[in-house]
Amino acid sequence: MSKASAPGKLILFGEHFVVYGLPAIATAIEARTTVGVEKADKYSLEDNRPETPGYKTEKYGQQLDSIKRIFKAMRINPDKTPVKIALGGNLMAASGIGASAASCSAIAAALNDYFGLGLDKETLNGIAYEGEKGYHGVPSGIDNSCSTFGGFIWFKKDQANNTITPLGLQLSLSIVIGNTGITSNTTKIVGEVKQQKEANPEKFNVIFDIYSSLVNDARAAIEKKDLDGIGKLMNKNHGLLREIGVSCKEIEELVDIALKNGALGAKLTGTGRGGLVIALVNEEDARKVATAFERAGYRAEMTKIGAEGVRVE
Ligand code: MEV
Repeated sequence: MSKASAPGKLILFGEHFVVYGLPAIATAIEARTTVGVEKADKYSLEDNRPETPGYKTEKYGQQLDSIKRIFKAMRINPDKTPVKIALGGNLMAASGIGASAASCSAIAAALNDYFGLGLDKETLNGIAYEGEKGYHGVPSGIDNSCSTFGGFIWFKKDQANNTITPLGLQLSLSIVIGNTGITSNTTKIVGEVKQQKEANPEKFNVIFDIYSSLVNDARAAIEKKDLDGIGKLMNKNHGLLREIGVSCKEIEELVDIALKNGALGAKLTGTGRGGLVIALVNEEDARKVATAFERAGYRAEMTKIGAEGVRVE
């Protein structure tokens, strides 16, 4: 039996701005998907990951396609060499948290170990990317890069080739995730931001300029391990997201609670108008912020970012 695990991801800086070719910074989180591969008479798949209700059923067809692509990319024939693949771990199978990428990355690593293929991380990342195509058609590659390399990833969308640069540093930061409980519709909200941008090009140009220097400062703050600096820049990034209209009452409440309870910075992550808020905290303040979120009626999770990438267990 071979076992591997890989982390999920969060966007730390740059959701929405990334759509327009500006850089974003994403990070691996502590929660992981584990994958076990063992000999079987017939190929089978068992999925024991915790999930947002309905997620796994909805994605089942895509998951089968994804695993088929991984087998093909690794030149494994599951009819000739059947295995059982079992998924587990503590990463929620849910939208916006890199769940599909974590599973692709961990499956590739576990198969690599089981069949003794000796593939390196770059190659495994390429295979995880092939697997991601089963879920996302033409994915950007940021999620599988977070799951494979871990840490912090600098990402820039480009028509020809996306830039994906692992920042390659060891930095584990405590964050508290607050969940608004509202599922947001990415396609709809991205479309609305686009309409607004077309209606107010001058306003958006100013915001884009501010964001461009902010994200460079954020990269420098991460590289210098300057927690206060990262927190302040998260607050600024959130202010810009508010200005482009992707915040909402619940997000603002969570950000406010986080800052009043000692967070160094807080912002929405992902699509906005619902979804998740991340609060950067000193480790000793994590419980306080999480409790304050829960008292206000929200689900909270304490975790770490900058986590290790895929590994054989
Ligand atoms: C959604 O998680 C992030 C957005 O920037 C959309 C995208 O990048 O595709 C809002």
